[in-house]
Amino acid sequence: MAKRIGILTGGGDCPGLNPVIRAVVRKGILDGYEILGIKNGWKGLIENDVIPLDMQAVSGILPKGGTILGTSRTNPYKKEGDVKKAIDNYNKNALSALIAIGGEDTLGVARKLIKDGLKIVGVPKTIDNDLSGTDYTFGFDTAVNIATEAIDRLHTTAESHHRIIVAEVMGRHAGWIAVHAGIAGGADIILIPELPIDINEVCGIIKKRHSRGKTFSIVVVAEGAKLKEGDMVTQDRKTDAFGHVRLGGIGEILSEEIEKRTGYETRVTVFGHIQRGGTPSAFDRVLGTRFGVRAVGLVNEGKFGFMVSLKGNEIVSIPIEEAVKELKTVDMKLYEIAKIFFG
Ligand code: F6P
Repeated sequence: MAKRIGILTGGGDCPGLNPVIRAVVRKGILDGYEILGIKNGWKGLIENDVIPLDMQAVSGILPKGGTILGTSRTNPYKKEGDVKKAIDNYNKNALSALIAIGGEDTLGVARKLIKDGLKIVGVPKTIDNDLSGTDYTFGFDTAVNIATEAIDRLHTTAESHHRIIVAEVMGRHAGWIAVHAGIAGGADIILIPELPIDINEVCGIIKKRHSRGKTFSIVVVAEGAKLKEGDMVTQDRKTDAFGHVRLGGIGEILSEEIEKRTGYETRVTVFGHIQRGGTPSAFDRVLGTRFGVRAVGLVNEGKFGFMVSLKGNEIVSIPIEEAVKELKTVDMKLYEIAKIFFG
């Protein structure tokens, strides 16, 4: 009987997941494995919702956004009995290993299930790029490109109308998308979760721009950024299975405050899930492909509990434990570079 690898995608989707799935299937089959797709993250393992993945199943998925396996934010450690179901189904399907593609939450569950005896290899994913132990996660490059193009578009309308436009980008705990898209799109101010917002300072920068004849400004803010005197802005109080609240709204608050304090007409645009949808960039397709191939290599080598990662231009492996220990926040040296262009 062929050895069998299970594969799942958990947490928020992102461009590049399908290239990983395709790479795992293609390399896995070459190495003599059967590949079993587990639907909708950990939910599929709990409910034994699985589909065999052959060459045909992954044909044509390389440029497709999202994940052909579906995803969910399911935490088996949240509900009594779910961990046992997940372990039983892992055994029932006679898996030799499981490749879990996800961010800190999905890999956090993987870390616990490894302690409970499962053989799991991790593949890091998040558009937020805030996972430790890897220089980049796939999905991030695509999100930055989408946000950059949107900022370019906001520039022309802001300039024509002599307006301030606040662009709210994703980034729950880290401002990587804000800083990269902000630098690439020539933002006049970039606000990130790592540094509380001083609204007086923001208005001062905008007024100074006006005084040198620039009657429009683009302010990029990460959704997780907070005012000095406030907390993170949330849509409601509900939390998901991992205790996260739904963020969103800081752009609106900023926009109102800026207009009130400066008297300049201000608008807000929330980029939202557009940053997560659609076709992956070439960079993300290549990174996803390299991660998928290496993940099968880790299974071959029996390196369970490890995660593939990008260090410089090399694909290496690090303990999942290390990756989920703490979040990777914005490099302040990069933020200092961005600041040179403020105002
Ligand atoms: O973690 C990735 C992310 O895109 C965050 O930037 C954002 O806060 C969150 O997911 C939104 O998730 P949901 O899919 O639940 O709206």
